[in-house]
Amino acid sequence: MKCVEIVATTGIDGLKLAERPTPKPGPHQVLVRIRAASINYRDAMILQGGYARGIPLPRIPLSDGAGEIVEIGAEVKRVKIGDRVCGTFFQRWIAGPVFPEMQDHALGGTAEGVLTEYAVLEGEGVVKFPDHLSFAEAATLPCAGLTAWHGLIEAGGLRAGDTALLLGTGGVSVFGLQFARAAGAYAIITSSSDEKLERAKTLGATGTANYAKNHEWSATVRELTGGRGADCVLEVAGGSSTKGALEALRHGGHMAIIGGRSGPGGELDRRFILQKGLRVSGINVGNRVMFEAMNRAIAATGLKPIVDKTYELKDSVAAYRDFLTGKHFGKVVITL
Ligand SMILES: NC(=O)c1ccc[n+]([C@@H]2O[C@H](COP(=O)([O-])OP(=O)(O)OC[C@H]3O[C@@H](n4cnc5c(N)ncnc54)[C@H](OP(=O)(O)O)[C@@H]3O)[C@@H](O)[C@H]2O)c1
Repeated sequence: MKCVEIVATTGIDGLKLAERPTPKPGPHQVLVRIRAASINYRDAMILQGGYARGIPLPRIPLSDGAGEIVEIGAEVKRVKIGDRVCGTFFQRWIAGPVFPEMQDHALGGTAEGVLTEYAVLEGEGVVKFPDHLSFAEAATLPCAGLTAWHGLIEAGGLRAGDTALLLGTGGVSVFGLQFARAAGAYAIITSSSDEKLERAKTLGATGTANYAKNHEWSATVRELTGGRGADCVLEVAGGSSTKGALEALRHGGHMAIIGGRSGPGGELDRRFILQKGLRVSGINVGNRVMFEAMNRAIAATGLKPIVDKTYELKDSVAAYRDFLTGKHFGKVVITL
């Protein structure tokens, strides 16, 4: 089978097209013919050696993929050959809180990833995705989609009439915008690009702010909410954005701590949390039960993930390069 391998964690030159024998599923596993995979910022960090240190090389990259089941282990009962499925990011996290032994089996990091024609996944580590989605659209769900769902809906408790704040227009934030609107909530999104903010409005953004031009964007968020502040924020940026996000939240609001897209730092000022009675959650993608709930919501609302660009497997390096420019809005996908 054709696949891509990380052969060195030295940046994009550490990625190589490769051939491997097609793997066989064990009794509790399934073999999936992967049809599409998508890139997350974490995958770019892994290539730089700055994440999941010590992963064995060569390693097939990427956590987010979708395909159809072509072979099944004797003990697998919950899915069947022909089912269109995604793999779960943490193959062994089914429900409840996450424990280290579940985090130790993450696709494209501590476990082999999905940038391959055939992937062996745990029978308990796949979910069927909604019928109205293409493989490329479904390939955006396991990390970016589920992280946004977990942060806003499961941990944040976002309800109709609330306001969600999304930082930047990367994969997680664009899903956050879509989930907020689908839930009947307002969605305020920031970006460094006016063009991307216009695109966000076509997806239903109810308020926008250009964080590169407007350093007082947290005050803009408060104005846009009539002085009340946002109910929930997906904090994907870190750095000085963390303070802005704390300022933009209403009393009793929720911050989902997700990432550091703008770089390191982003310490939490305890005074804000105490005085405003804020709730704060650390988000680790999400578990399978959350993934299934998200898929029901996507099926019910007809939500379509935003695939910004699609590349073929042989052009995987170009896909990574494109992703690293940060010019994308939503997701960069590789088809197989
Ligand atoms: N904890 C978890 O489970 C989890 C899961 C998924 C992702 N993450 C993390 O969350 C972050 C986002 O991931 P992603 O895959 O969505 O990334 P992504 O698609 O690469 O996001 C790219 C966008 O981030 C925005 N950005 C950069 N600096 C910013 C800043 N200072 N303020 C606001 N936005 C800024 C830019 O938006 P504009 O171009 O619009 O300015 C950029 O286009 C990453 O740090 C990632 O590692 C964590």
